Amino acid sequence: VLKRRDVVIVWLAGASLVLALLTVFAIELSNTQAKSRRDVTARVHERAVLAAALIDSLLQTVQEQTPQLAQLYGTAKVTAATLNAHRDRNEYLVLLDARGNVLAASQGFTAQARANLARSAALRLVLARRTYGLGNLLPYGRTSAVDFAVAFPTPHGKRILLTGFGPQALGPFLQGDLRKIPGVKGAHNYVIDGNDTVLASTNPAAGSGFRFPAPARAALARSSGERRGHYYEQVGLANSTWRIVLAEPDGPLFASVSGFRKWVPWAIFAAFATVALVALALGRRAMRASAEVRDANARLGQMNDELASANAALEHRARELSRSNAELEQFASIASHDLQEPLRKVRTFTDQVVQAESEQLSPKGRDYLERAAGAAERMQALIEDLLKYSRVGTHGRSFAPVNMTELTRGVLEDLESSVERSGASVHVGELPTVDADAPQMRQLMQNLVSNALKFRRPDVEPEIVIEGHADDGTATIKVVDNGIGFDPQYSGRIFRVFERLHSRAEYPGTGIGLALCRKIAERHGGAVVAESMPGEGSTFTVILPLHHRDGIDPGTARDAPRGVRHEPFVPA
Ligand SMILES: Nc1ncnc2c1ncn2[C@@H]1O[C@H](COP(=O)(O)OP(=O)(O)OP(=O)(O)O)[C@@H](O)[C@H]1O
Ligand SMILES: [Mg+2]
Repeated sequence: VLKRRDVVIVWLAGASLVLALLTVFAIELSNTQAKSRRDVTARVHERAVLAAALIDSLLQTVQEQTPQLAQLYGTAKVTAATLNAHRDRNEYLVLLDARGNVLAASQGFTAQARANLARSAALRLVLARRTYGLGNLLPYGRTSAVDFAVAFPTPHGKRILLTGFGPQALGPFLQGDLRKIPGVKGAHNYVIDGNDTVLASTNPAAGSGFRFPAPARAALARSSGERRGHYYEQVGLANSTWRIVLAEPDGPLFASVSGFRKWVPWAIFAAFATVALVALALGRRAMRASAEVRDANARLGQMNDELASANAALEHRARELSRSNAELEQFASIASHDLQEPLRKVRTFTDQVVQAESEQLSPKGRDYLERAAGAAERMQALIEDLLKYSRVGTHGRSFAPVNMTELTRGVLEDLESSVERSGASVHVGELPTVDADAPQMRQLMQNLVSNALKFRRPDVEPEIVIEGHADDGTATIKVVDNGIGFDPQYSGRIFRVFERLHSRAEYPGTGIGLALCRKIAERHGGAVVAESMPGEGSTFTVILPLHHRDGIDPGTARDAPRGVRHEPFVPA
């Protein structure tokens, strides 16, 4: 069995483990999501780089034309006619020397175009020793033009051919390439110049010549980022101010890590966390409950111990009591036995004095002597009764079946003279046979019958009915008289030793008879109860178990017959 502290430690360890796992899981999950996001943006960047490289490689082919250019424009003097001849659909052609001075120009090279030279990015790139350069959209007439510069060596030094052309010429070529760039649905690809003006795009709403508004231009200052639900990535094209911009809507782009999908793993995580926390809470409750059970058990154990010690104390007291009872009985028996001898002597001598010396005595002296003799006689009766009482427990015999009818008839024979003297009519019914100590049963019945005879009404002939029945393992015997009766409030007291309700002058006796009856009945595991009303007779009911296993002395028998309540037995 785990101790409470161990259980708490185990629970805390479990809780920490669960929390640690949850934390690690959460970190891992958010890392994974961040990583997938990074992967996606890296792929967009790759696309942009590839697209830029593709366009770059197309433009590189221009370099292959340098020998041809050197042949065309390498002569000492180049005329406008030559340039005009090769102008094609371009707005203008202009030939410059290595320092950027105009050597010759074709038709269409307007004053505006000449002024544009000063801010031509294409020219600047070539002057900075690039083999070619692409510039921004420049104002040209009612529209605009892009310029493209190529440097080539001639016998007369390096020369530069600057071609100005309308952006619409670029459109089909660039758009074709832009369309080839893969992307999610709703993605738009742009080629923009150094001024954030669109040269070509796959977005019909922002075609060639479209200039991004200021906030978008501010965003384009960064190579990548997010704006209005779109992720964008830009890569510059070599030898130009141009850039490729790929813009893809966040939703489809980050589908795996945004919106609903982003929250799915988190929802699962939350579910796990909830389950784990609930489990922990349940664990805690179970722990508390088991702690309570343990506490209750401990309390119960404690109570058990207390009960056991109380029982032990009780048993000890019971043993003490029965020991002191036995000692008391022994003492009473010895005392009464030893008292008998001197008493007998007192009686013998008083009798002798009365018989031999009575003439010499004064009437007063004779009266005293007679009273002394009477007292001695009463004392002897008392001692004999006490001796009987004290011997109920110690001198008892083992039990054997006793026919109570026969026994009662015997008792009545013994009492024949008093029955006759009182003129009583006695009826004895059919009484049960019980396992009992016959002499004690005899004492019991004798006491009850003699009481019924003794406490008769002076003017009423005594009628005594003795009847009984047996049922449910119990014998019930009633002795009913029509005598003087007594106040029912004394129906308990009369069973105590020396308790009498009537004066000795009226009704002689020692007051031990009923105490003896009770003691005998109790030794048999039974009881005696009295019911009466003054002037209406009395009923004494003896209740006895019919059978005793093994015929042993049941003086300690615990189960009194059912329905019988009697005072606890405390011997005098
Ligand atoms: N049948 C009865 N009718 C009325 N009172 C009774 C009856 N039996 C007993 N008592 C009352 O109960 C008292 C106690 O009876 P118990 O038999 O113990 O004493 P006792 O008859 O006076 O003396 P002992 O029986 O010792 O000679 C009696 O003194 C009497 O007052
Ligand atoms: Mg009596």
